[in-house]
Amino acid sequence: MMWLWATLRIFLMVVVYGSVSTTSSRTFEIDFEHNCFRKDGQPFHYISGSIHYSRIPQFYWKDRLLKMKMAGLDAIYTYVPWNFHETKPGVYNFSGDHDIESFLKLANEIGLLVILRAGPYICAEWDMGGLPAWLLAKESIVLRSSDPDYLQAVDNWMGVFLPKMKPLLYHNGGPIISVQVENEYGSYFTCDYNYLRHLLQLFRHHLGDEVILFTTDGSALQLVRCGTIQGLYTTVDFGPGSNITETFLVQRHCEPKGPLINSEFYTGWLDHWGEPHSVVATERVTKSLDEILAIGASVNMYMFIGGTNFGYWNGANTPYAPQPTSYDYDAPLSEAGDLTDKYFAIREVIKKYKEIPEGPIPPSTPKYAYGEIKMEKVKPVIEALDILAPYGAVQSTYPLTFDQMKQYFGFVLYRTTLPINCSNPTTLTTLFNGVRDRAYVMVNGVPQGVLERDKQTAINVTGAAGAELDLLVESMGRVNFGRYNNDFKGLLTNVTLNGETLVNWTMYPLDIGSAINSGLLSTIHSPYTSTFSAPTFYKGSLIIPTGIPQLPQDTFIQFPGWTKGQIWINGFNLGRYWPVRGPQVTLYVPRNILTTTQINNITVLELENSPCNSGKCVVEFVDKPVLNKVNQSADEHIFSKEKIH
Ligand SMILES: *[C@@H]1O[C@H](CO)[C@@H](O)[C@H](O)[C@H]1NC(C)=O
Ligand SMILES: *[C@@H]1O[C@H](CO)[C@@H](O)[C@H](O)[C@H]1NC(C)=O
Ligand SMILES: *[C@@H]1O[C@H](CO)[C@@H](O)[C@H](O)[C@H]1NC(C)=O
Ligand SMILES: *[C@@H]1O[C@H](CO)[C@@H](O)[C@H](O)[C@H]1NC(C)=O
Ligand SMILES: *[C@@H]1O[C@H](CO)[C@@H](O)[C@H](O)[C@H]1NC(C)=O
Ligand SMILES: *[C@@H]1O[C@H](CO)[C@@H](O)[C@H](O)[C@H]1NC(C)=O
Ligand SMILES: *[C@@H]1O[C@H](CO)[C@@H](O)[C@H](O)[C@H]1NC(C)=O
Ligand SMILES: *[C@@H]1O[C@H](CO)[C@@H](O)[C@H](O)[C@H]1NC(C)=O
Repeated sequence: MMWLWATLRIFLMVVVYGSVSTTSSRTFEIDFEHNCFRKDGQPFHYISGSIHYSRIPQFYWKDRLLKMKMAGLDAIYTYVPWNFHETKPGVYNFSGDHDIESFLKLANEIGLLVILRAGPYICAEWDMGGLPAWLLAKESIVLRSSDPDYLQAVDNWMGVFLPKMKPLLYHNGGPIISVQVENEYGSYFTCDYNYLRHLLQLFRHHLGDEVILFTTDGSALQLVRCGTIQGLYTTVDFGPGSNITETFLVQRHCEPKGPLINSEFYTGWLDHWGEPHSVVATERVTKSLDEILAIGASVNMYMFIGGTNFGYWNGANTPYAPQPTSYDYDAPLSEAGDLTDKYFAIREVIKKYKEIPEGPIPPSTPKYAYGEIKMEKVKPVIEALDILAPYGAVQSTYPLTFDQMKQYFGFVLYRTTLPINCSNPTTLTTLFNGVRDRAYVMVNGVPQGVLERDKQTAINVTGAAGAELDLLVESMGRVNFGRYNNDFKGLLTNVTLNGETLVNWTMYPLDIGSAINSGLLSTIHSPYTSTFSAPTFYKGSLIIPTGIPQLPQDTFIQFPGWTKGQIWINGFNLGRYWPVRGPQVTLYVPRNILTTTQINNITVLELENSPCNSGKCVVEFVDKPVLNKVNQSADEHIFSKEKIH
């Protein structure tokens, strides 16, 4: 009804006044007659860029949004990761870096419209495509379908989230001009139209009839087939070099009339550990962008700024290929928000089609090389279990998954004893490739090797009967695309030793963040007795030099001689490092997590080998990122290039 009335009103105004220059009420609609949008009655196309608030510290939201505005963008697209907000069923976080309402209000103040990609599924190279891992409590759940338990969880979440968005819709005075439902659903195997119908009704119920709801799918007929239904406006996505006539024909197949929209025009591409850093040439991007704008289509550049997969938030593709911590994406604004040649080249293209805001562009933020920081050993994981697992262990005859233990991220230590003497190398096997995703194996604290999903399902161990066998299992990020994103973690199958199933497991779900925040981990000193190649915590102190104005500044940290692990600075989980595999070598450190008034505490969990035995025991802060050093010898495995968003 509202929709009809709004359309009718605009129609009347246009008829009576010829054109509408100002109107007290804000409207945003599709003009099917003229193949465009109408914003406050005026024909409108948007030039947009993707930015994910969940990948940028709140501290820097304004800087990044201003740079996007100054590039000449009308709008931003942003994904909403459900699992970022509903951390446990019914437990929500909308504060600090999770404060989406502040982010959207900031965009509004800066004069950027918002296209909200509300999920529930988003893909986004984000852990489990944004779906909360706690959905897997029902092991048989069919995600992204009419499975009643899935729908109930979606209804609960959207019942909390969407009402927060309603006042931010354009016609209510906010920046949101349209809302995307689901994401590339036509690429998923379920093809459940009832699910899409349910979402349509749910979104209409909470947001009203006026707002434009739409879908996005790959630009191929077989992809849009299951991706959209009547009532959701169809848009497509495609990258540079595509034949835009052909790709938009796919949209026209579903939408004979209305604005042409490319919801994901790829300015760069994503990375996986062990593969070369993705780069897309600027000329390829600007050429296709020019073609798209020349025909009057609306476009969203994915990404305009990629940002960072802080903490444990990266996703993975299949066959299992997790994404690194950096989500730089070779985008026009770098991971650290820096202006690039691509930024200025895109701005020149936009200038051909519209007026660009006057005034200076916020400059790239200065970076500072704080230099080498001496690290010292704190304790191996297995000597700190009382601190790391304050609620104790879980016992079970056979291994449980992380999900069964309600551990959704990070690490669990699985412990049993060797039932037989293994004086000769004896084979330890995870059946059916059941390790998710890496297990660091020790006998009485002595490292035996690493099991890795899809790569290494068996290793040899030695030790006496009764010796402690430990598997520290790491989740490397849940699959975010394709049929297998019900990605359980931990040991999914039995482990055998010399063919016999190991039993009587004690499992310690680790809460490393709390241990660091309570200061417990940093106060322990253990003598340099045990080996340096078992998973071990190290600490170091960064004191920001005095007498230099404008410190702290952003920086990058690198790990010379280290192998693989996780790093926290002042309790902030910066992400994973894995220079031995690459391509990412440095991690971005935003200045807002640093302080000049106290010692900055660096905590490193090295899972394999640190340099502290033989070499210099340091980490190093540098002023330039290194994202493109793949170690070919570390990884011969060729991942399939399955596609992705
Ligand atoms: C929400 O997330 C922020 C980090 O952005 C954190 O500081 C805060 O403690 C979280 N709040 C809750 C209630 O978990
Ligand atoms: C793009 O596709 C259209 C329709 O198939 C075709 O006519 C045109 O020649 C193609 N353009 C280019 C540059 O290949
Ligand atoms: C393991 O070897 C030790 C010493 O060789 C022996 O005493 C013990 O009985 C053996 N245990 C088993 C379970 O075979
Ligand atoms: C374990 O050791 C045996 C005997 O030395 C060897 O044949 C086998 O290849 C080893 N297995 C693994 C997984 O390293
Ligand atoms: C381990 O093996 C036992 C006995 O065959 C079986 O009952 C159990 O389900 C298995 N557990 C897992 C996690 O595979
Ligand atoms: C496992 O634990 C049960 C109960 O404590 C015990 O009876 C059994 O002998 C143990 N099995 C092994 C192989 O240690
Ligand atoms: C770092 O640790 C030291 C000693 O525990 C403490 O005094 C200091 O406040 C910590 N720094 C920050 C930023 O929390
Ligand atoms: C490359 O990987 C191999 C195998 O993991 C490792 O031994 C080597 O140190 C790595 N090289 C670099 C430069 O990290």
